[in-house]
Amino acid sequence: MSHFTTPPADTLCPVSLTINGKFHSLDVAPWTTLLDLLRGPLDLTGTKKGCDHGQCGACTVLIDGERMNACLKLAISLDGSEIATIEGIGTLGDLHPMQQAFIDHDAFQCGYCTPGQICSAVGLLKEGHAHSREQIRELMSGNLCRCGAYTNIADAIEEVAGLYGRQGLQEAAE
Ligand code: FES
Ligand code: FES
Repeated sequence: MSHFTTPPADTLCPVSLTINGKFHSLDVAPWTTLLDLLRGPLDLTGTKKGCDHGQCGACTVLIDGERMNACLKLAISLDGSEIATIEGIGTLGDLHPMQQAFIDHDAFQCGYCTPGQICSAVGLLKEGHAHSREQIRELMSGNLCRCGAYTNIADAIEEVAGLYGRQGLQEAAE
């Protein structure tokens, strides 16, 4: 659910963002989070709002390639940033390997946490620290799944990590 409401015009600040490869020049209130900007005016509702307090990971996106909680970032602090949301990770006809692996491993039930899980997993591979299942579990611990699909999520990530190997992780993450 978006809590975005149109702010008074005299409070707006300019911000430029590239989101999923598309440049946006926007006027936003200083208190608008990236999450509310995405889900409100930009209608990119693939990014989910769970706790809105940085504790569940449902809102995970990639900011300049790093996985971050969009609910904890003020949009005006991100001027000039490149942001990737689940809508930019892959498309129906051209799924990212991580999306395909989540499907193949049945790594979701309700799916509410899934966009954040996938964005986080893509960022995780790019970090290059996931060399074991234990590390994957630890480094994905910021992404909660109320349906308890953790085993299958780890299976999916492990497959992509193994499939691409260390040298190919950078490619898989892009
Ligand atoms: Fe951002 Fe939960 S909605 S961490
Ligand atoms: Fe339902 Fe993760 S699949 S919360």
